[in-house]
Amino acid sequence: MEISWIVAVLVMYTYVIGRTTGIDLQRSLYNHLFDKYNKALRPSSTPNSTLIVEIGVELTHLIDMNEKHQTLTANLWLTMGWNDSYLRWNDSEWRGITELTVPDSYVWKPDIVLYENVDQYFKGWSKSETYVKLHHNGYVLWEIPTVTLSSCQVNVSSFPFDRQKCPLKFGPWIHSSYEVEMRSMAGEGSLTSFMINAEWNVLSFTAQTHIKSYGEAFDIGTPYSDVTFVLEFQRKSTFYVFNLLLPCLLLTFLMSTMFYLPLETGEKLSFGVSILLAIVVFQLVLNEVLPESEDLPWIGRYVILAMIMMSVSLSLSVMVMNVCDCSITVRPMPQWARRLFLKVLAQLLFMGDMSNGRPTTLQTDETETFQMDLNIERSTTPLDPHDQSEYQIGTEILASNLRKIERKHSFLISYMKEMDRKEEVRKEWRALAKVLDRLFFFIYILTATVCLVVFVATL
Ligand SMILES: *[C@@H]1O[C@H](CO)[C@@H](O)[C@H](O)[C@H]1NC(C)=O
Repeated sequence: MEISWIVAVLVMYTYVIGRTTGIDLQRSLYNHLFDKYNKALRPSSTPNSTLIVEIGVELTHLIDMNEKHQTLTANLWLTMGWNDSYLRWNDSEWRGITELTVPDSYVWKPDIVLYENVDQYFKGWSKSETYVKLHHNGYVLWEIPTVTLSSCQVNVSSFPFDRQKCPLKFGPWIHSSYEVEMRSMAGEGSLTSFMINAEWNVLSFTAQTHIKSYGEAFDIGTPYSDVTFVLEFQRKSTFYVFNLLLPCLLLTFLMSTMFYLPLETGEKLSFGVSILLAIVVFQLVLNEVLPESEDLPWIGRYVILAMIMMSVSLSLSVMVMNVCDCSITVRPMPQWARRLFLKVLAQLLFMGDMSNGRPTTLQTDETETFQMDLNIERSTTPLDPHDQSEYQIGTEILASNLRKIERKHSFLISYMKEMDRKEEVRKEWRALAKVLDRLFFFIYILTATVCLVVFVATL
């Protein structure tokens, strides 16, 4: 009975004492480590030895890729580690305490910067409120979640089928490679927590270490060590194919139907101008997306070519309208033009022989035939011998009236002939306009297709 009481009290005593000593132990370990610790000094084992800092980067979110400003905004988890020779302890002496977490401002930290950083409000990670994990063998682990805004040389020459490479170069700013040397924790950056991006496919995220000299221009050339993570990603082009490329293509081919519109409707030019305006709008949209660089992207070149083709076809349409406009003078078509356009070209363009049935000259002698008929009739008028004088007078009046009618009639006939002739000539010119329209239609379709094929081939 007594023994069990003693045991119970002993157990409780050791438990309580153990707990308090556990907390005291941490405190005294902290005091032991930091009493004489100076975070200003680089914690290498000997003053001349190089301190190795290892770094790992995990990309979690590709927030924005701005082609116009050539910047990349990304959410990164940075992990850095190094051996601090002043923060070591023997875990067996400290009852198995192997780790201690303290605010990062208590320990020395390397002045790692992102070389490509363009965020003007960024003041460095060592200013942020984070903790570091100390390991008994002196290893310090520092983990920082951060959003970086970095510059990235964007090459949009094959937009929207482009691939981009953005470097993220981490290294100490003032410590030369003799003092601090960078090392990558793994062969590449991590993508395990990466959030799928709607616009970009990440292809690779490699890591490379470099030692590079800077400051040679100022005669203080010093080698600096860095780890460069290269993020390579490809644009998911479906969005642009359906929203930009396909409408452009449709507009280009829709323009060809302008040559099919009948001239008489008078809608030809307004149709063409509307399409030209639509393509100008697309160009403006493109300019919003792309940087103002000298090398035009693929799609920009295509849009500009389409605009040129459309302008040329508009002016061709105006010319065709002018060919068929015979409101002032109607001149007959030259024989060579009739043969070349209405016969040869029309047949080549699958329109049949359009010069068919049209005489070269439209002058006829039908009026003369009518007059001759009248003369014959007059000479064969039968004469009555009994009432010759009266009949004679009547016949004279009738003849003069008939001559009047004949004159009017022949005038009317010749006028109608003239009108007919003019209409024929007009029809001929209109046929020529139609042939020209068809010719330009085929030329346009051919040019547009060739351009498209060349553009796709040079992609
Ligand atoms: C830290 O020290 C351990 C043991 O001495 C060594 O294996 C490790 O590579 C060192 N780490 C760094 C970053 O220097």
